[in-house]
Amino acid sequence: MFNLILFGPPGSGKGTQSENIIAAYGLQHLSTGNLLRSEITQQTPLGLEAKSFMDQGQLVPDAVVIGMVGNFMDAHPQAKGFLFDGFPRTTAQCIALDALLQQRTYEINVVLALEVTEAELVKRLLGRGATSGRSDDTNETVIRARIQEYHDKTTAVEKYYAQFNKVVAIKGEGTVESIYADLKKEMDARI
Ligand code: AP5
Repeated sequence: MFNLILFGPPGSGKGTQSENIIAAYGLQHLSTGNLLRSEITQQTPLGLEAKSFMDQGQLVPDAVVIGMVGNFMDAHPQAKGFLFDGFPRTTAQCIALDALLQQRTYEINVVLALEVTEAELVKRLLGRGATSGRSDDTNETVIRARIQEYHDKTTAVEKYYAQFNKVVAIKGEGTVESIYADLKKEMDARI
């Protein structure tokens, strides 16, 4: 069982690089953003609650997200490892994830942290917003609110795992291929 957190601010390339990593290593992709968007599409009560936060660029409450992650892990008992993308995003989520993993005698093996300048993040997200239909990408105010939430609440995640020496910083600018090569080198050193 190999568990990876792909960490970074909105637009840093977590989703893009997750596709490469799950294809190469066979990990189960767990993207809380994708799970929440699926709940919104299905118009579930959870989705309706989450939408009001996501549309404003705010984090969805911890209890909602943690419950969803636990259900997803229960639904994938055969996974040979999870790639956590967009989770955990607060210290409370880190503590909850530790508990979820310990129940299964697993742990986080490494946190690969993509580093990208704010100007590049905004450029990428506005670029995607022009075509993707993602409502939180079309408005620069919402994009900047997401980045602010990251600074206010999510950078604590990196500090949490740094105390266990689990964080490796990866330059997240350059071609998708060159960034993947750097991620792969760190994966191969540990798997
Ligand atoms: P989520 O879906 O997780 O979005 P995000 O973190 O804002 O991240 P993005 O998907 O926008 O960016 P990414 O880092 O995956 O980059 P990507 O590869 O897509 O969360 C959305 C919302 O859901 C949150 O705001 C929150 O409300 C809620 N939420 C989710 N999880 C939560 C949690 N745990 N707790 C509470 N709330 C939660 O790339 C972005 C763009 O850049 C793409 O167009 C891509 O093609 C491009 N790109 C990628 N790599 C490169 C490159 N190397 N060069 C140029 N362009 C690139």
